[in-house]
Amino acid sequence: MNKVIPQHQSVLMNAVLNNAFPENGKIFVDATFGLGGHTRAILEKFPGITKVIAIDRDAEILDYSCKILKDDRIMRFQANASDLPGIMPLAEVKAVDGILLDLGVSSYQLDNPQRGFSFSKPGPLDMRMDKDNPQTAADLVNSLEKAELVNIFKKYGEEKFSGRIADAIIKERQTEPFSTTDRLAKVISEAIPAKFRAKSQIHPATRVFQALRIAVNDELGELENFLSIALDCLNPGGHLCIISFHSLEDRIVKNFMQKLHKGCTCPPSFPVCNCGNKPQLRILTRKAIFAEEEEIRHNPRARSARLRAARKCFVGEHE
Ligand SMILES: C[S@@+](CC[C@H](N)C(=O)[O-])C[C@H]1O[C@@H](n2cnc3c(N)ncnc32)[C@H](O)[C@@H]1O
Repeated sequence: MNKVIPQHQSVLMNAVLNNAFPENGKIFVDATFGLGGHTRAILEKFPGITKVIAIDRDAEILDYSCKILKDDRIMRFQANASDLPGIMPLAEVKAVDGILLDLGVSSYQLDNPQRGFSFSKPGPLDMRMDKDNPQTAADLVNSLEKAELVNIFKKYGEEKFSGRIADAIIKERQTEPFSTTDRLAKVISEAIPAKFRAKSQIHPATRVFQALRIAVNDELGELENFLSIALDCLNPGGHLCIISFHSLEDRIVKNFMQKLHKGCTCPPSFPVCNCGNKPQLRILTRKAIFAEEEEIRHNPRARSARLRAARKCFVGEHE
């Protein structure tokens, strides 16, 4: 029998190559390394790169990536993207020239039922990117109050039937706690009115599974943590490039970039700037970049991907 080789199709590759790294840079950070598809292409385009700091929360994917991407310039770290300031001294680096963040999970994780991300294959209800994280999706589903479940499903999944689904989960878990993906997917499907289920183009459990994954891995909190350290890690002229898959993530990235691009925080009614805050970033992508139809045809996951990039200002750029 042929062995299945785990794969992940990197999204928005051209936009990454055009925005994630400056021409004369030396040090690149791939803070969501996965199987290293973007890094491989970046290394090909920028042969002057001397070091890549490759970070991923998931030890398993990082381990597997060693088999398919071997390059002496790559230093791998199992960590959160926001741990970059602590990793830089270990990599003997003071500042970096480009940071890429390609959020969410990889097909490598989604396609392995044992990781519990997939509603279409039976497996343990886990969903942790980092296995050291003590809290699994089963822990959330079996312990949260109705209001907390509804909040997660609405906020992170934009699920219209959050209340009905939460009720069904709470009823079911009284018989026996949830431990598998397929049982949860079935309960969610049955909680959605049949006429909506029939009309839906996606699996009825898609939104709730996405919401639980975001909650289990505190993905928005981690993004905020990363943004709070990113600027200090970059050399002047260094690029920050972020691909997100969720409107809440994208809003956080957009607001962050706009705020630092603008600099001044004085109310618009002030005739002259009083705060003295100078722009710290220059936005490179006026609007978010989305995948073309052609890419979406080959890789449906690219449909919700959007990329924003900015470069750190040089000292005195705005004098
Ligand atoms: C979409 S995949 C990256 C794919 C990669 N760009 C490629 O081309 O192969 C996202 C990866 O980032 C990891 N990840 C997600 N959020 C992270 C974070 N905040 N810190 C570190 N790793 C993270 C996930 O475990 C996953 O392996």
